[in-house]
Amino acid sequence: MRLNLDAAAVPARLAGVEKFRIRGGAPLAGTVPVSGAKNAALPCLAATLLTAEPVRLEGLPRVRDIVTMERVLGTLGESCEHQNGATTITVGTIEGAHAPYELVRTMRASVLVLGPLLARRRRARVALPGGCAIGARPIDLHLQGLVRMGATITVQRGDVVAEAPGGLRGADITFPRITVTGTENLLMAATLAKGTTVLRNCAHEPEVVDLAELLAAMGARVHGAGSSTIVVEGVAELSGARHRIIPDRIEAGTYVTAALLAGRGVRIQGCRPQHLTAFLATLEESGARLEVDPDAIYVPPQDRPLRSTSVTTAEYPGFATDLQAQFLTLMTQAEGVSTVTEAIFENRFQHALELKRMGATIEVSGRLAKVWGPTPLQGTVVMASDLRASAALVLAALVAEGETIVDRIYHLDRGYEGMDAKLAALGACVERFNPGPFQ
Ligand code: EPZ
Repeated sequence: MRLNLDAAAVPARLAGVEKFRIRGGAPLAGTVPVSGAKNAALPCLAATLLTAEPVRLEGLPRVRDIVTMERVLGTLGESCEHQNGATTITVGTIEGAHAPYELVRTMRASVLVLGPLLARRRRARVALPGGCAIGARPIDLHLQGLVRMGATITVQRGDVVAEAPGGLRGADITFPRITVTGTENLLMAATLAKGTTVLRNCAHEPEVVDLAELLAAMGARVHGAGSSTIVVEGVAELSGARHRIIPDRIEAGTYVTAALLAGRGVRIQGCRPQHLTAFLATLEESGARLEVDPDAIYVPPQDRPLRSTSVTTAEYPGFATDLQAQFLTLMTQAEGVSTVTEAIFENRFQHALELKRMGATIEVSGRLAKVWGPTPLQGTVVMASDLRASAALVLAALVAEGETIVDRIYHLDRGYEGMDAKLAALGACVERFNPGPFQ
């Protein structure tokens, strides 16, 4: 089933809030394909602003955040043509520089256009992204770095207004704290800066490495992506390129969790297990039996419940914060008391409140959650609050007794390509429905 997520495709009067209806207890079996990584696709799409030539990206996931980023690029004068699983982005004659609030507020990663716009068009106006469910999510480190590279930045009526009429210049910049999109924004800005830029205390995420590979294919001179220090020698211009997006490690980890909860033999195909080492190691410490191939993870039927464990989220290669919510759901079915510490974001336990409504025994205090298991879960109506929290609720519904309605499923569609179709193909009883207006 292909979802047309473009808001224009759904008449406003029918745009109710889609929900999932899930009946728990169905065993999952079979193979689930992993889509391209949303968090690699977003910076790679933004990088197309660095050249006047066409860029062909393969393996972009058809999820709402990608549609939003393509619409942002559209407001900046670029066109995105989809054909045979690839997207070709070309810049038009009008090169805009304003990413409007109505788009940026729906996806904070729109801030990734700031660096490329400044680098090549030497000006940018990007709405300040508001906070979101999981935290304040400031972009001060992005802006400080761009100022170090010679940009003049002011905030006018809620927009970041940035200018570098003489172009950006190389600088030696140390991030006070690790930031993924901060690293990506400055990496892109540095490719066209005059001179050499050294970025220190960078994020190591595979999505940063994937972006660097696209930039290199476009002619950028980047060294050290994936390590703490990235060195970029600025060049005068970049060319078009062709690039395949890496598989989504967070989607893969989500389906591994589904398989451990309700699986009778599930293969997660087309992933890169080496991007999930901390997560898989934690699962194995809990007693999970996994069979890992270079591009797939097979989860055989588990012959005993998992053991409780403790985990703290960390920057890559540590335990991914984007798998914390899913892991918390898993620990409600493990034997004993587990603790989960969320060290990256200040408010990322909202799923715990909904899980407790399903019968889970969880205590949250600041950045620490304690969960007692195993506790049987009961189906009920729950509400998604953010992308990964909604995934955690879907996972809980798969093992809950009876029927669960997961509301506000648009959160899920932001980052999971056809999750209902993929789960149903494994045997889950899941139905997407729209109750219509006024529900
Ligand atoms: C990226 O967000 C991901 N998004 C997030 O995935 C992910 O959770 C996060 O990295 C951490 O891994 C994309 O890649 C599009 P950060 P990002 O900058 O870059 C603070 C998902 O579910 N900070 O690494 O916004 C910040 O508040 C999403 O797919 C500043 O203080 O995260 C946070 O506490 C959710 N100032 C910490 O750093 C800044 O200027 C890490 O944030 C920037 C960040």
